[in-house]
Amino acid sequence: MAAGSARVPVIAGNWKMHKTQAETREFFAAFLPLVAGAKHCEIVVAPPFTALAAAVEAARDSAVMIGAQDLYWEPQGAFTGEVSAGMLVESGCRAVIVGHSERREHFGETDDIVARKTRATLDAGLRPIVCVGETLREREEGKMEEVLERQFHGAFGALTAQAFSPILVAYEPVWAIGTGRTATPQLAAEAHGFLRSLAASRFGHEAAARLRILYGGSVKPANIRGLMAMEEIDGALVGGASLEAMSFAELVNYREG
Ligand code: PGA
Repeated sequence: MAAGSARVPVIAGNWKMHKTQAETREFFAAFLPLVAGAKHCEIVVAPPFTALAAAVEAARDSAVMIGAQDLYWEPQGAFTGEVSAGMLVESGCRAVIVGHSERREHFGETDDIVARKTRATLDAGLRPIVCVGETLREREEGKMEEVLERQFHGAFGALTAQAFSPILVAYEPVWAIGTGRTATPQLAAEAHGFLRSLAASRFGHEAAARLRILYGGSVKPANIRGLMAMEEIDGALVGGASLEAMSFAELVNYREG
């Protein structure tokens, strides 16, 4: 992100279905000393539910924010296998990833479900990281803007500008996730610009100027600087490269070297 912008960058790791509690403790023991000096960005790590408490404990005296990868929108009830926002708050979480493309693709999450989960996250005082992004086919058919617009309005259409303000949006083109195929900084910035224009028309220019949009999809130490050099890109949501302390620390410390 260009110097002078008021938006504080966010580097977030999504561990997906990786790491036991012991591996989580091991990660933080190696990772925290490597990022102790990082004041230029916010850091989020999202382990699986079973490792949340271990991550919160391990990151207690650091600036690292622990997030969950999903939640259910009801506060409690007969919803076998689900976890509520209140439970996440109690376990020390401060953020939640909502609407990841893997949830949309493998678990049938619709825009309506993403909206409910976003609302529940906000109501609990947690910061939602809401993912949007087109598939390869949609991009090839020239439907990127149409898809982003549908997902944006689907997730945020019912919110006021005030309710919208804590939200982080993650642009994650599905074709770039876990494929090693990163969007070029230009392609990513173009999509971010489009998302920001949607935010401006729905919530006003000030809200849009404050909105932080993260890029996700095969972000690695080798490509993060080019991405973060774009004015429109306010951070990264990282899968694979967040699993290893050294590589995730290198991403957090993208400004050095
Ligand atoms: P990746 O995953 O960095 O492994 O491509 C990104 C994501 O799914 O958030």
